Amino acid sequence: MNFIELCLKRFSARNYTDEPISDADLQYILESFQVAPSAVNRQPWKFLIAKSEEAKEKVQRAYDRDWLKTAPLYIIAFKNTNEQWVRKYDGKPHGDIDVAIAVEHICLAATDCGLGSCWVCNFNPDIIKTEFPQPVEYEPVAIIPIGHIPNDGTVAVKTRKSLDRIVEMV
Ligand SMILES: Cc1cc2nc3c(=O)[nH]c(=O)nc-3n(C[C@H](O)[C@H](O)[C@H](O)COP(=O)(O)O)c2cc1C
Repeated sequence: MNFIELCLKRFSARNYTDEPISDADLQYILESFQVAPSAVNRQPWKFLIAKSEEAKEKVQRAYDRDWLKTAPLYIIAFKNTNEQWVRKYDGKPHGDIDVAIAVEHICLAATDCGLGSCWVCNFNPDIIKTEFPQPVEYEPVAIIPIGHIPNDGTVAVKTRKSLDRIVEMV
């Protein structure tokens, strides 16, 4: 599988089987985000792996969807607002960008393992902060459910703007 094939294979999986994620696959995914690039190599992030039923129920309170409950594991990605690089010219903080790169590494690594994943940002951050107390500088950015995809013929459909709408050669 080349890189474009990997990108095409990744899709937002919203249904998972009961099969747990192997330790080897989880380790592969952890290493994928560990090596993600970040502005000034600040690595302004932290990742909680929610595997226990207790932790998963807490996550489900923040994003109450039936499909989410089918996943065997969630990763919660936090940015560290103290460690993130801030561009001096306009004061733009780059923590969200850094975490987004790490999260996409997770999704592509999961795809490479034959697993499904989904970005989730439409969660209630206050519930995550209450249920998983962290130092005040940590803000939840994304939740990523990961799991095996049912063999039910679901295919990754890519609805995307055409290149000529989004690319301009100058
Ligand atoms: C930053 C971001 C936030 C997202 N948040 C959610 C979400 O809260 N819930 C959800 O079901 N999908 C969410 N998605 C998934 C998108 O809906 C999905 O990536 C998009 O429709 C393209 O489909 P594909 O991922 O299958 O290619 C999010 C994706 C991104 C990149």
